Amino acid sequence: MLYAKRVAWAAVALLGLSVTPLAVSSVFAAGAPTPIVPAPLPPAGNVEAGAEKAAVCSACHGMNGNSTNPEWPSLAGQNAAYTREQLLLFRAGHRNDPVMYPMAIGLTDEDIADLSAYFAAQTPAGLEADPSHWQNGARLYHHGDSSRDIPACQACHGPVGRGNPGAAFPALQAQHAVYTIKQLTSYADGQRYVDLTGKATQSRNGHMMTTIAKRLTATDIRDLATYMQGLR
Ligand code: HEC
Ligand code: HEC
Repeated sequence: MLYAKRVAWAAVALLGLSVTPLAVSSVFAAGAPTPIVPAPLPPAGNVEAGAEKAAVCSACHGMNGNSTNPEWPSLAGQNAAYTREQLLLFRAGHRNDPVMYPMAIGLTDEDIADLSAYFAAQTPAGLEADPSHWQNGARLYHHGDSSRDIPACQACHGPVGRGNPGAAFPALQAQHAVYTIKQLTSYADGQRYVDLTGKATQSRNGHMMTTIAKRLTATDIRDLATYMQGLR
């Protein structure tokens, strides 16, 4: 525990001025997962400034936010409110992915606003649904399964997976199935939001997906992900 705290403090020292008091206190809060209420969002970003700043991101997230590696999510067309929230969570070390976390720690609030505006303005490239698995996925996506208390995904993510920008519910269309499978599995296992010490954290709305993902079987997750990859 002492060691874990020291590691966390070292990371906090690295974060320097970009750490908000909220983030620090959440890292050290004892007991149950602390819901993370994002700091007031900065003003809407600038798409052109974001395009310049996105050069470094394109190494993994692809040209115009269309990734070619299925483990790295596409960001094209994602709503800016969701992207901003996720970048704040990465920067604070609450969504502690070892590849993405170091990319976020140096971003200012203005960078985050500009990058989010830029990716929201890009067009998602078409991916195809996997013909062998998508039918069960389509049924669950549009109708859910009331016998297992699974709501229709489209209620929040929209009929063609464009998400709900007003509520910051993410778009899922044209996303790589490999990435989507990892996220749904992580929600179910409580691994999507863990801090630098490995302790569970939470995002503002993450509990919704944790509850839903726990009700999905591995087959459901595969079928949904391969179907959603073809949505547009
Ligand atoms: C070295 C590769 C790499 C680079 C460079 C990179 N990312 Fe990422 N990014 C990732 C990976 C891997 C994930 C998925 C993490 C996970 O599995 O949870 C990710 C996830 C994200 C997400 C979450 C997407 C979602 O749907 O929840 C956002 C937003 C994001 N990155 C933005 C950026 C921005 C902005 C930059 C440039 C400043 C950037 N990334 C640079 C690898 C990278
Ligand atoms: C009640 C609204 C609601 C319903 C219904 C819902 N979701 Fe979500 N979903 C959310 C919210 C909110 C988030 C973002 C939560 C967070 O991590 O902060 C999310 C996130 C996700 C993500 C992560 C996206 C990314 O880019 O990392 C996936 C994948 C997902 N949902 C799939 C599904 C599937 C599949 C279903 C149907 C079985 C579903 N959702 C039903 C609200 C919902």
